[in-house]
Amino acid sequence: MDYTTLGRTGLKVSIAGLGTGGFSRLGLGTGKDEAHAIGIIRAALDLGVNLFDTAAAYGTEPVLGKALRGTPRDEVVICTKAPFGISSSGSSPERAVASLDRSLKELGTDYIDVYQLHGVSPAAYDHARDAIAPALLREKDKGKFRHLGITETGPGDLPHEMVQRACRDGVWDTAMIAFHMMHQNARANVFPLTREHRVGTLLMFAVRNIFSRPERLAATVRELADAGELPPELASNPDPLGFLVHPGGASSVVDAAYRFVRHEPGVDVVLFGTGDEAHLRTNIDSLLKPPLPEPDRAQLAHLFGRLVGVGLDAPHLTPLSGRSKGG
Ligand SMILES: NC(=O)c1ccc[n+]([C@@H]2O[C@H](COP(=O)([O-])OP(=O)(O)OC[C@H]3O[C@@H](n4cnc5c(N)ncnc54)[C@H](OP(=O)(O)O)[C@@H]3O)[C@@H](O)[C@H]2O)c1
Repeated sequence: MDYTTLGRTGLKVSIAGLGTGGFSRLGLGTGKDEAHAIGIIRAALDLGVNLFDTAAAYGTEPVLGKALRGTPRDEVVICTKAPFGISSSGSSPERAVASLDRSLKELGTDYIDVYQLHGVSPAAYDHARDAIAPALLREKDKGKFRHLGITETGPGDLPHEMVQRACRDGVWDTAMIAFHMMHQNARANVFPLTREHRVGTLLMFAVRNIFSRPERLAATVRELADAGELPPELASNPDPLGFLVHPGGASSVVDAAYRFVRHEPGVDVVLFGTGDEAHLRTNIDSLLKPPLPEPDRAQLAHLFGRLVGVGLDAPHLTPLSGRSKGG
């Protein structure tokens, strides 16, 4: 495993972080049981992963707590989140503090390393900073958590407006950001700011559904080509990212997707979600490989550099298209 420093938190973290939310929820989202989920977490630990991301909303805090029992507490970095925006409308300081106390209990730990507000939209940001953060920081002073972070909504904030403000405000030590091969605007909009302010970055959505489901990728590319947003010849290509897979290049589109985000300057930790131990292993392999060859990266920038909001949403929201409607 490779390790890096998570911005100004100073935490030494693995560059691969295990996400326990997303569509898989360690397999719990696809019908697997708790023992299976614990096995995924322990396998990640064995492979050198020391950062784990969960949330009150995921229902995976108890299983993470169980799986980490027996591991010295200072050898793992536990990140969890207070419901906000996505998962809780009337978010109040009292509810955030109550959620923090519940998370400590569910995880079976005395402190959380990174406590984040979950999915904060641009419209909700003032409330997050002015009402919720001060209340949480009082709990931080009591030792309940070490660093305050914030996560963006992804589909609900395509230009990353919220996180741009958050970087400048100095309140948040980490930010969770959506970035992938077909949604690259964080390169210009976010990473210069996170680097300037030494905000630690956790990357989400590297693969999501769009790169893990070839038929969905082909349908999305066809739709974008038909709309004039991609070259017309891509419309009839059943494997539009196949050019990335070649000797000396990526071994698969998923391999390319993780390597693409891993080597982006400004990215500290790449989160991935999986309920499949084979995926866990190949994803870590991918994250430890060198960058994609320069001509392939140039082609990705050329083809997809102007796209925004592709492939972020859940399949049930838009059956074929991977284009998010949020703004
Ligand atoms: N706003 C927020 O705060 C927010 C929002 C979204 C996500 N997150 C965090 O970020 C984490 C990562 O997000 P994500 O789950 O969307 O991650 P992701 O890595 O982009 O996508 C994971 C999806 O890809 C599949 N997959 C993973 N490895 C694969 C492989 N090698 N081959 C084929 N398919 C593969 C997984 O299914 P399998 O189970 O089949 O592997 C899963 O459906 C989440 O777990 C969560 O902790 C936070």
